[in-house]
Amino acid sequence: MNRDLLLRQFRPTWLGRILECHEALASTNDRARELLDELGPEANGTVVFAGEQTGGRGRLGRSWQSRRGLGLACSVALWIERSPGGLPPLQLAGSLAALLALRETAGVHGKLKWPNDVLLDGKKVCGVLVESRFLGEAPAGLVVGIGVNLLHEVEDFPLELRTTATSVFLASRRRVAPDTFAASLLRALGPLVEEGLANPPSLVAQASPHWIHEMGSPLVLAVGSGSFRGTFAGVAPDGALLLDVDGQRRTVHDGEVVRVRPPGAGADDPS
Ligand code: BTN
Repeated sequence: MNRDLLLRQFRPTWLGRILECHEALASTNDRARELLDELGPEANGTVVFAGEQTGGRGRLGRSWQSRRGLGLACSVALWIERSPGGLPPLQLAGSLAALLALRETAGVHGKLKWPNDVLLDGKKVCGVLVESRFLGEAPAGLVVGIGVNLLHEVEDFPLELRTTATSVFLASRRRVAPDTFAASLLRALGPLVEEGLANPPSLVAQASPHWIHEMGSPLVLAVGSGSFRGTFAGVAPDGALLLDVDGQRRTVHDGEVVRVRPPGAGADDPS
Protein backbone atom coordinates (compact mmCIF):
# COMPACT_ATOMS: atom_id res chain seq x y z
CA MET A 1 0.00 0.00 0.00
CA ASN A 2 1.41 3.33 -1.03
CA ARG A 3 0.40 5.76 1.72
CA ASP A 4 0.96 8.90 -0.37
CA LEU A 5 -1.14 7.60 -3.26
CA LEU A 6 -3.85 6.60 -0.79
CA LEU A 7 -3.89 10.03 0.83
CA ARG A 8 -4.31 11.68 -2.57
CA GLN A 9 -7.62 9.84 -2.94
CA PHE A 10 -8.86 9.70 0.64
CA ARG A 11 -9.06 12.61 3.03
CA PRO A 12 -8.95 11.39 6.64
CA THR A 13 -11.69 12.53 8.99
CA TRP A 14 -12.11 10.87 12.39
CA LEU A 15 -11.38 7.79 10.29
CA GLY A 16 -7.75 7.55 9.24
CA ARG A 17 -6.39 10.34 11.47
CA ILE A 18 -3.84 7.70 12.43
CA LEU A 19 -3.08 5.62 9.35
CA GLU A 20 -0.38 2.97 9.27
CA CYS A 21 0.78 1.18 6.12
CA HIS A 22 3.06 -1.77 6.83
CA GLU A 23 4.84 -3.99 4.34
CA ALA A 24 4.13 -7.03 6.46
CA LEU A 25 2.42 -7.79 9.76
CA ALA A 26 1.26 -10.94 11.48
CA SER A 27 -2.28 -9.56 11.44
CA THR A 28 -3.58 -6.03 10.95
CA ASN A 29 -6.27 -6.84 13.56
CA ASP A 30 -3.52 -7.48 16.13
CA ARG A 31 -1.83 -4.16 15.36
CA ALA A 32 -5.13 -2.26 15.59
CA ARG A 33 -5.84 -3.94 18.91
CA GLU A 34 -2.34 -3.03 20.13
CA LEU A 35 -3.07 0.61 19.31
CA LEU A 36 -6.34 0.46 21.27
CA ASP A 37 -4.35 -0.92 24.22
CA GLU A 38 -1.70 1.79 23.93
CA LEU A 39 -3.76 4.84 23.05
CA GLY A 40 -7.23 4.09 24.43
CA PRO A 41 -9.93 6.46 23.07
CA GLU A 42 -7.28 8.32 21.03
CA ALA A 43 -7.00 5.25 18.81
CA ASN A 44 -10.60 5.63 17.62
CA GLY A 45 -10.65 5.61 13.81
CA THR A 46 -7.10 4.33 13.40
CA VAL A 47 -6.59 2.44 10.14
CA VAL A 48 -3.91 -0.21 9.65
CA PHE A 49 -2.94 -1.73 6.30
CA ALA A 50 -0.45 -4.48 5.51
CA GLY A 51 0.84 -5.57 2.10
CA GLU A 52 1.20 -9.08 3.49
CA GLN A 53 0.00 -10.88 6.63
CA THR A 54 1.91 -13.82 8.03
CA GLY A 55 -0.80 -14.81 10.51
CA GLY A 56 -4.01 -13.38 9.06
CA ARG A 57 -7.14 -14.63 10.81
CA GLY A 58 -10.60 -15.41 9.52
CA ARG A 59 -13.85 -16.18 11.31
CA LEU A 60 -14.45 -19.42 13.19
CA GLY A 61 -10.77 -19.98 13.93
CA ARG A 62 -9.72 -20.11 10.28
CA SER A 63 -6.68 -18.48 8.75
CA TRP A 64 -6.86 -15.80 6.06
CA GLN A 65 -4.27 -15.78 3.28
CA SER A 66 -2.84 -12.34 2.47
CA ARG A 67 -0.01 -12.82 0.02
CA ARG A 68 2.21 -9.89 -0.83
CA GLY A 69 0.85 -7.56 -3.46
CA LEU A 70 -2.31 -9.53 -4.24
CA GLY A 71 -4.93 -8.36 -1.80
CA LEU A 72 -5.94 -5.80 0.72
CA ALA A 73 -5.65 -6.36 4.46
CA CYS A 74 -7.13 -3.54 6.47
CA SER A 75 -8.20 -3.07 10.08
CA VAL A 76 -9.99 -0.20 11.73
CA ALA A 77 -9.79 0.40 15.48
CA LEU A 78 -12.94 1.78 17.09
CA TRP A 79 -13.28 2.93 20.67
CA ILE A 80 -16.78 2.09 21.74
CA GLU A 81 -18.16 1.57 25.19
CA ARG A 82 -21.54 -0.15 25.38
CA SER A 83 -23.31 -2.35 27.87
CA PRO A 84 -22.43 -6.03 27.35
CA GLY A 85 -24.55 -7.76 24.71
CA GLY A 86 -25.26 -4.54 22.89
CA LEU A 87 -22.49 -4.34 20.31
CA PRO A 88 -23.60 -2.81 17.00
CA PRO A 89 -23.47 -4.98 13.84
CA LEU A 90 -20.43 -3.21 12.44
CA GLN A 91 -19.39 -6.25 10.42
CA LEU A 92 -22.09 -5.03 8.03
CA ALA A 93 -20.41 -1.64 7.74
CA GLY A 94 -17.27 -3.48 6.58
CA SER A 95 -19.00 -5.72 4.05
CA LEU A 96 -21.26 -2.96 2.70
CA ALA A 97 -18.26 -0.65 2.29
CA ALA A 98 -16.50 -3.39 0.31
CA LEU A 99 -19.60 -3.86 -1.84
CA LEU A 100 -19.67 -0.14 -2.65
CA ALA A 101 -15.94 -0.06 -3.37
CA LEU A 102 -16.31 -3.03 -5.75
CA ARG A 103 -18.95 -1.11 -7.65
CA GLU A 104 -17.00 2.15 -7.70
CA THR A 105 -13.59 0.79 -8.62
CA ALA A 106 -14.38 -2.26 -10.76
CA GLY A 107 -17.99 -1.76 -11.85
CA VAL A 108 -19.06 -5.12 -10.40
CA HIS A 109 -22.10 -5.82 -8.26
CA GLY A 110 -21.47 -8.15 -5.35
CA LYS A 111 -23.81 -9.89 -2.95
CA LEU A 112 -23.63 -10.38 0.81
CA LYS A 113 -23.64 -13.82 2.37
CA TRP A 114 -24.60 -13.89 6.05
CA PRO A 115 -23.00 -12.87 8.29
CA ASN A 116 -20.35 -10.83 6.52
CA ASP A 117 -18.94 -12.32 3.33
CA VAL A 118 -18.96 -10.48 0.04
CA LEU A 119 -19.45 -12.62 -3.06
CA LEU A 120 -18.87 -11.99 -6.75
CA ASP A 121 -20.35 -14.57 -9.13
CA GLY A 122 -21.24 -16.63 -6.05
CA LYS A 123 -17.61 -16.82 -4.87
CA LYS A 124 -16.02 -15.09 -1.91
CA VAL A 125 -14.02 -11.95 -2.69
CA CYS A 126 -14.00 -10.33 0.74
CA GLY A 127 -14.31 -11.38 4.37
CA VAL A 128 -14.78 -9.31 7.50
CA LEU A 129 -13.61 -10.23 10.97
CA VAL A 130 -14.81 -8.12 13.89
CA GLU A 131 -13.02 -8.66 17.19
CA SER A 132 -14.04 -6.99 20.42
CA ARG A 133 -11.86 -5.86 23.27
CA PHE A 134 -13.18 -5.97 26.82
CA LEU A 135 -12.08 -4.35 30.05
CA GLY A 136 -13.63 -6.66 32.63
CA GLU A 137 -17.23 -7.15 31.53
CA ALA A 138 -17.45 -3.97 29.51
CA PRO A 139 -16.60 -3.59 25.82
CA ALA A 140 -13.78 -1.13 25.28
CA GLY A 141 -13.11 -1.21 21.60
CA LEU A 142 -13.78 -3.08 18.42
CA VAL A 143 -11.52 -3.97 15.54
CA VAL A 144 -13.11 -4.30 12.12
CA GLY A 145 -10.77 -6.29 9.86
CA ILE A 146 -11.45 -6.45 6.13
CA GLY A 147 -9.66 -8.72 3.69
CA VAL A 148 -10.20 -8.35 -0.06
CA ASN A 149 -8.84 -10.52 -2.87
CA LEU A 150 -7.82 -7.98 -5.48
CA LEU A 151 -5.36 -9.19 -8.08
CA HIS A 152 -5.33 -12.97 -7.66
CA GLU A 153 -5.23 -15.29 -10.63
CA VAL A 154 -6.83 -18.71 -10.05
CA GLU A 155 -3.40 -20.28 -9.32
CA ASP A 156 -2.77 -17.76 -6.55
CA PHE A 157 -5.42 -19.46 -4.41
CA PRO A 158 -4.66 -22.72 -2.64
CA LEU A 159 -6.29 -25.71 -4.39
CA GLU A 160 -8.98 -26.13 -1.75
CA LEU A 161 -10.20 -22.55 -2.23
CA ARG A 162 -10.26 -22.41 -6.02
CA THR A 163 -13.92 -23.31 -6.40
CA THR A 164 -15.15 -20.98 -3.66
CA ALA A 165 -12.87 -17.92 -3.82
CA THR A 166 -12.44 -15.22 -6.41
CA SER A 167 -10.73 -11.87 -6.81
CA VAL A 168 -11.72 -8.49 -8.19
CA PHE A 169 -9.47 -9.20 -11.17
CA LEU A 170 -10.99 -12.62 -11.91
CA ALA A 171 -14.53 -11.27 -11.69
CA SER A 172 -14.04 -8.00 -13.56
CA ARG A 173 -10.78 -8.39 -15.54
CA ARG A 174 -9.77 -5.05 -14.00
CA ARG A 175 -6.53 -4.63 -12.11
CA VAL A 176 -7.58 -2.23 -9.37
CA ALA A 177 -4.58 -0.84 -7.49
CA PRO A 178 -4.67 -1.45 -3.72
CA ASP A 179 -4.50 2.29 -2.93
CA THR A 180 -7.46 2.99 -5.24
CA PHE A 181 -9.55 0.25 -3.67
CA ALA A 182 -8.50 1.26 -0.15
CA ALA A 183 -9.47 4.89 -0.72
CA SER A 184 -12.88 3.89 -2.04
CA LEU A 185 -13.38 1.45 0.86
CA LEU A 186 -12.50 4.05 3.50
CA ARG A 187 -14.68 6.76 1.90
CA ALA A 188 -17.64 4.40 2.15
CA LEU A 189 -16.73 2.97 5.55
CA GLY A 190 -16.72 6.21 7.57
CA PRO A 191 -20.42 7.06 7.07
CA LEU A 192 -21.46 3.39 7.39
CA VAL A 193 -19.73 3.04 10.77
CA GLU A 194 -21.34 6.29 11.92
CA GLU A 195 -24.73 4.96 10.84
CA GLY A 196 -24.12 1.60 12.50
CA LEU A 197 -23.27 3.28 15.81
CA ALA A 198 -26.13 5.79 15.74
CA ASN A 199 -28.83 3.55 14.30
CA PRO A 200 -27.98 -0.17 13.96
CA PRO A 201 -31.36 -1.19 12.42
CA SER A 202 -30.84 1.35 9.65
CA LEU A 203 -27.48 -0.22 8.77
CA VAL A 204 -29.16 -3.63 8.65
CA ALA A 205 -31.86 -2.15 6.40
CA GLN A 206 -29.20 -0.75 4.04
CA ALA A 207 -27.76 -4.25 3.71
CA SER A 208 -31.10 -5.96 3.07
CA PRO A 209 -31.30 -5.56 -0.75
CA HIS A 210 -27.86 -7.10 -1.08
CA TRP A 211 -28.23 -10.49 0.62
CA ILE A 212 -27.72 -13.45 -1.69
CA HIS A 213 -30.34 -15.28 0.38
CA GLU A 214 -33.89 -14.84 -0.84
CA MET A 215 -36.76 -14.67 1.62
CA GLY A 216 -38.14 -18.16 2.16
CA SER A 217 -35.32 -19.90 0.29
CA PRO A 218 -33.65 -22.94 1.85
CA LEU A 219 -30.23 -22.74 3.38
CA VAL A 220 -27.95 -24.90 5.45
CA LEU A 221 -26.20 -23.42 8.44
CA ALA A 222 -23.10 -24.93 10.05
CA VAL A 223 -22.80 -24.23 13.76
CA GLY A 224 -19.93 -25.78 15.68
CA SER A 225 -19.63 -29.39 14.54
CA GLY A 226 -23.27 -29.69 13.45
CA SER A 227 -25.49 -28.19 10.83
CA PHE A 228 -29.19 -27.61 10.29
CA ARG A 229 -31.53 -26.69 7.48
CA GLY A 230 -34.02 -23.90 7.47
CA THR A 231 -35.42 -21.15 5.30
CA PHE A 232 -34.16 -17.59 5.24
CA ALA A 233 -36.47 -15.21 7.11
CA GLY A 234 -34.30 -12.09 7.03
CA VAL A 235 -31.74 -10.45 9.30
CA ALA A 236 -32.68 -9.03 12.71
CA PRO A 237 -31.98 -5.38 13.59
CA ASP A 238 -28.87 -6.51 15.51
CA GLY A 239 -27.46 -8.43 12.52
CA ALA A 240 -28.55 -11.93 13.66
CA LEU A 241 -29.80 -14.41 11.07
CA LEU A 242 -33.52 -15.22 11.20
CA LEU A 243 -34.14 -18.78 10.17
CA ASP A 244 -37.36 -20.78 10.05
CA VAL A 245 -36.67 -24.34 11.12
CA ASP A 246 -39.58 -26.81 11.23
CA GLY A 247 -42.08 -23.99 11.56
CA GLN A 248 -40.16 -22.31 14.38
CA ARG A 249 -38.38 -18.95 14.01
CA ARG A 250 -34.77 -19.14 15.23
CA THR A 251 -32.41 -16.25 15.79
CA VAL A 252 -28.83 -17.24 15.08
CA HIS A 253 -25.87 -15.11 16.11
CA ASP A 254 -22.99 -17.26 14.93
CA GLY A 255 -22.30 -19.93 12.37
CA GLU A 256 -21.77 -20.16 8.66
CA VAL A 257 -24.19 -20.52 5.80
CA VAL A 258 -22.73 -23.43 3.86
CA ARG A 259 -25.38 -23.80 1.20
CA VAL A 260 -27.70 -21.30 -0.34
CA ARG A 261 -29.90 -21.17 -3.38
CA PRO A 262 -28.70 -18.20 -5.45
CA PRO A 263 -31.37 -16.11 -7.16
CA GLY A 264 -32.69 -17.82 -10.28
CA ALA A 265 -31.04 -21.17 -9.51
CA GLY A 266 -32.67 -24.55 -9.36
CA ALA A 267 -32.57 -26.74 -6.29
CA ASP A 268 -30.04 -26.17 -3.52
CA ASP A 269 -26.90 -25.09 -5.41
CA PRO A 270 -23.75 -24.88 -3.32
CA SER A 271 -22.02 -21.56 -2.85
C1 BTN B 1 -13.46 -14.31 7.15
O1 BTN B 1 -14.05 -14.28 6.08
O2 BTN B 1 -13.35 -15.36 7.78
C2 BTN B 1 -12.88 -13.03 7.68
C3 BTN B 1 -11.58 -12.69 7.05
C4 BTN B 1 -11.00 -11.39 7.57
C5 BTN B 1 -9.60 -11.16 7.06
C6 BTN B 1 -9.09 -9.80 7.46
S1 BTN B 1 -7.61 -9.37 6.59
C7 BTN B 1 -7.42 -7.98 7.62
C8 BTN B 1 -7.77 -8.43 9.02
N1 BTN B 1 -6.63 -9.03 9.69
C9 BTN B 1 -6.84 -10.31 9.96
O3 BTN B 1 -6.02 -11.07 10.55
N2 BTN B 1 -8.03 -10.69 9.52
C10 BTN B 1 -8.76 -9.59 8.93
